[in-house]
Amino acid sequence: MAKLVGFTYDLKSEYLNRCKSKVTVEDVVEFDTEITINEICEALEFSGYKVEKIGSLKNLLSKLCQGKRWDIVFNIAEGISGRNRESQVPLILEFFNIPYTGSDALSMGISLDKVIAKKIVSYHKILTPKFFQIKNLDQIKFNKINLKFPLIVKLSQDGSSKGLSKKSIVNNRNELIFLAKKMLKKYLQPLLVEEFIVGKEFTVVVMGNKYSKKYPVKSYPPVQIAINNKTNLGKEFFTYERIENDETKYICPSQEDSLLLKRLEQTARKVYEILDVQDFGRIDFRVDKNNKIYFLECNPLPHLGKIDVFPLVAHAVGEDYNKIISDIVKIAFDRYNNFR
Ligand SMILES: Nc1ncnc2c1ncn2[C@@H]1O[C@H](COP(=O)(O)OP(=O)(O)OP(=O)(O)O)[C@@H](O)[C@H]1O
Ligand SMILES: [Mg+2]
Repeated sequence: MAKLVGFTYDLKSEYLNRCKSKVTVEDVVEFDTEITINEICEALEFSGYKVEKIGSLKNLLSKLCQGKRWDIVFNIAEGISGRNRESQVPLILEFFNIPYTGSDALSMGISLDKVIAKKIVSYHKILTPKFFQIKNLDQIKFNKINLKFPLIVKLSQDGSSKGLSKKSIVNNRNELIFLAKKMLKKYLQPLLVEEFIVGKEFTVVVMGNKYSKKYPVKSYPPVQIAINNKTNLGKEFFTYERIENDETKYICPSQEDSLLLKRLEQTARKVYEILDVQDFGRIDFRVDKNNKIYFLECNPLPHLGKIDVFPLVAHAVGEDYNKIISDIVKIAFDRYNNFR
């Protein structure tokens, strides 16, 4: 009999309609559209699974209380707020002893807090841009700034380029104070200030699990970012806006030196294992003019829609979208059957 897959996710439209006055488009930028949800459902059904759409954590809780259960839950719910938001669905499913795809609560949390992820990764001698965190303005008004300008100012606990715009690069202390003041007030969370890495950018999809014999940790060919048709990005950088405006293109396979691509894959697999990512993930890097690779962040819940990188990397190795999506379920079942 077909396995029953529950599907947890957060829909942009649902939050925008429910909380019209309080929620902005930027608040739900990490959430999914109906199009993505249907693409994933179709891919799973094509591979023989029966899918039940659950939706957000609230729906999950109410279905659990009604006694509903699934063979496995395909989880891409991002959660609404706080640095544990991606951990909430995995934690509840763990409590109810229901298998789910993807990383567990701990791994989601350490990856979502970019500062914690950078500290752990650099402990393992992986290069990441020099940084500090700002919780209040006094830290930058009165202390010596030991980083080399230009710097990029990001939210330390958000993804999908939330809080980022073309104005996120600062060239001196005054610009930094001005931007930090605005961001601390608007986003009410610590900021991550990093040295800006002039150069190229890549993102690497990794799948599998460390202890699995059938699905060991495997990387896909790196996807290179081009902005306005240039891969030497200089001081340009990726924002979500730029994907929607067609300024950004994903290139896979990349035409860069094969040794660099191999090193990117190796580093991505290493980060994946260090941060204990399960089943699937995507790791972002910048590369400087000396081909030094800098870890930017790890996404244990990367966007899985067809406009993103998953169909591209699948094609690059002769697979297709349906396969790569349904592989996530197979990899997760294998993990539960064999070691966790
Ligand atoms: N230190 C840096 N040097 C150069 N560019 C950077 C740096 N940090 C971030 N960027 C640029 O900003 C983009 C977004 O940064 P990052 O990946 O850290 O945040 P995010 O919002 O979580 O991203 P995503 O959209 O992948 O979820 C990167 O893809 C890169 O183009
Ligand atoms: Mg990123």
